[in-house]
Amino acid sequence: MALTIAIDGPAASGKGTISKALAAHFGLEYLDTGLLYRAVGHRMLQGEDPVEAARRLTTADLDRDGLRGPEAAQAASRVAAIPEVRAALVDFQRAFAAREGGAVLDGRDIGTVICPDAPVKLYVTASAEVRAERRHKELAARGHKAGYEEVLADILARDARDAGRADAPMRAAGDAVLIDTTRLDVDEAVAQAIAAVEARRPSRGDG
Ligand code: DC
Repeated sequence: MALTIAIDGPAASGKGTISKALAAHFGLEYLDTGLLYRAVGHRMLQGEDPVEAARRLTTADLDRDGLRGPEAAQAASRVAAIPEVRAALVDFQRAFAAREGGAVLDGRDIGTVICPDAPVKLYVTASAEVRAERRHKELAARGHKAGYEEVLADILARDARDAGRADAPMRAAGDAVLIDTTRLDVDEAVAQAIAAVEARRPSRGDG
């Protein structure tokens, strides 16, 4: 049986770094589902109807410049609260998760809604202050001018919107392994994640 790893958690918690490392370690494909919402948010900022944009989304839309910035992030969080947008993106994510070679998906509702039967689920979190520090450094390195306080306010607003929406709110699945990266460096966080997957993955020969 192909291994599916579902990873959720708030912005800048380290889930993207952990997801990529797990995909490389276990030889799986990786999908950053936040990019889908960022692409739809980006199109909304250009004047498109977000539901139509979600229905017409193609993988080429995920390559666009500008999806990594804070404007696309806030727009993503706004369109992500629209049930029709979420519904339009479900099939693509589930098809990716069902790949023969196995897959790692990260987002906000992967373990709860997209892949509720995934054998391995992680919920990666960290304090809002540490997440804001990380995102601030990352944005500064890419030439963005936003200050720490602005980045922190952005993250808190996104957390509240993503966790507070009625449809598929951000939360840990009941059977997710929690990884708090507040005091962990990248190597420690990845080592914890690999150990959690090893402990949970179905043994070869099962199923
Ligand atoms: O992971 P990210 O920061 O790139 O995600 C951007 C926004 O997209 C996030 O604030 C909420 C939304 N999102 C979502 O609602 N569900 C997902 N599975 C992934 C992202």
